[in-house]
Amino acid sequence: MTSTDQSPTARGSGTSATQAFRASRQEHTTGAVSAERVSSVVGRILSGVHDAIRAEKVTYDEFQAAKQWLIDLGEGGEWPLFLDVFVEHVVEDVAAETQQGTKGSILGPYYLPGQQQLPSVASLPARPDEKGTPLVFAGQVRDTDGNPVAGAELDIWHADSEGYYSGFAPHLPDGNLRGVVVTDGQGRFEISTVQPAPYQIPTDGPTGQLIEAAGWHPWRPAHLHLIVRAPGHRPITTQLYFEGGEWLDSDIAQATKPELVLTPVEQGDGRLRSEYDFVLERG
Ligand code: DHB
Ligand code: FE
Repeated sequence: MTSTDQSPTARGSGTSATQAFRASRQEHTTGAVSAERVSSVVGRILSGVHDAIRAEKVTYDEFQAAKQWLIDLGEGGEWPLFLDVFVEHVVEDVAAETQQGTKGSILGPYYLPGQQQLPSVASLPARPDEKGTPLVFAGQVRDTDGNPVAGAELDIWHADSEGYYSGFAPHLPDGNLRGVVVTDGQGRFEISTVQPAPYQIPTDGPTGQLIEAAGWHPWRPAHLHLIVRAPGHRPITTQLYFEGGEWLDSDIAQATKPELVLTPVEQGDGRLRSEYDFVLERG
C-alpha cells in the first residue's frame, strides 16, 4: 500500500471507529449484569495480568511504560482497533460453540450500518475509476434444512485495492464498496466488486508501535466482511478470504478459518469469480 497525504492515520481511523462503535451501542439496551458475573470475569482477567507480571518479573519501568501506552491508546481512539485485532477472535470462538451453519468470524471495527439496499444482482457502489481486479461474488443463502432463503440480506463491506475502508479513510466517498444485497426468490445473489487488498493495521499509532516493538507484522489477509441476516434466522457475521492470499496463515487478528477461504477462478472476461453459499440457522 502506498502512503500519501490522504492515507488515513491511526488517530483518524481510531476516532472514526470509536464514533461508529458508540453509535452502534445506542441501538442496544444494556441489561443489568450481576455483581457475581462482573467479579468472576474481571477477577479472572486481573489474575491473568498478575500471573504475567510474576512470571515475567515485570519491572516498575515496564509498568509505567504500559500505563503510558494505555493512556495513548485511549487518547488515540484506538481501543476498537486494538480489541478487535487482539481479543475479538476468542469472543467469536466462544459464540461459535452454539452456532450452526456458516462459520462466523470477527466483526472488526469498520462495520457501518444503514448502507444502500441493492437487488440480488448488483454492483457495489464504487468510484468511476475504482482500481483492482474485478470480482464477481455469487451464491445462495439456505437454511440448515437446505431450503433457499428468499429476501435474505447480505450486508457486505470490504477494503479497496489499497487496503482502505470507506468511512475510515478521508479520501474515499461514503458508502464505497459497501452495500446490502437482497437475495432473489431462490435465495441467490451475484455481487460485482473489486478484489480487496490485504489490510495493514495503521502503524503510526500506539497499536502500530506495540506491533513493531514486539517484532510482529501488522497485516490481515485480504477479506470480504459480511453479515447475512433474514427474518426468523440467526444472523451470521463472517469474513471470506482468498486462497493463496498473502498473510492467510499469519493473520494478526487470528480470524481466518479454513471453511472461509474462497477459490476465485478466471471467468474468461478479465474478471475473477468466487462462489459461496451461506447456511443460516433458524431461530
Ligand atoms: C481491524 C481491521 C479490520 O479490517 C478487521 O477486519 C479487523 C480488525 C483493526 O484494525 O482492528
Ligand atoms: Fe476488515
